[in-house]
Amino acid sequence: MYPSREEAERLLVEAEGCNPGPWGNHSRVAAHCAEAIAARLGLDPEKAYVLGLLHDIGRKYGKRHLGHVSDGYSYMMSLGYDEVAQICLTHSFSDHDYKKYVGNFDTNEEETALIRDKLLEAEFDDYDYLIQLCDAIAGAEGVMDMIERMSDVKARYGDYDPVKWDSNIKLKAYYEEKMGMDLYEVVDKEHFKPGA
Ligand SMILES: [Fe+2]
Repeated sequence: MYPSREEAERLLVEAEGCNPGPWGNHSRVAAHCAEAIAARLGLDPEKAYVLGLLHDIGRKYGKRHLGHVSDGYSYMMSLGYDEVAQICLTHSFSDHDYKKYVGNFDTNEEETALIRDKLLEAEFDDYDYLIQLCDAIAGAEGVMDMIERMSDVKARYGDYDPVKWDSNIKLKAYYEEKMGMDLYEVVDKEHFKPGA
């Protein structure tokens, strides 16, 4: 289950009201990329858009690192949007090991256990990988070069898990091969601006 495009947009605006920041437009850029790539691949563009738009919705509850993952998961589950909840969880990891999170471990015991267990259970599908890819190229002002964006995150957080770094590079190559097209062209990197 996931909300309509309109409902997803409403949820994001409401969340930005609780915790304003560049994450809102970062989410819009991720949504735009996911929609464009999904259309090219024969996936559901509307679903991809909604999942991209809400992947960081846990930020509604404040400035947290790993905490935004459990906040997003629990929030989306409370609305019955289990497919979004899974994305809130899986977008931050390259595999099923929560210890590889890029950022501070600022969760309490209960939240950490939730992330650990749900991540172990989760079956990653095309949409999980798609949102990971989009997260890695979505800046707040527009689409970014992946290396530039990951370097930016590394500078802000002090570290970037090398496994996730490599996995993002591989995802880009994998999707480009599947699309038969340059990723930045598909998402119109040069021209797309959130909110325009
Ligand atoms: Fe994100």
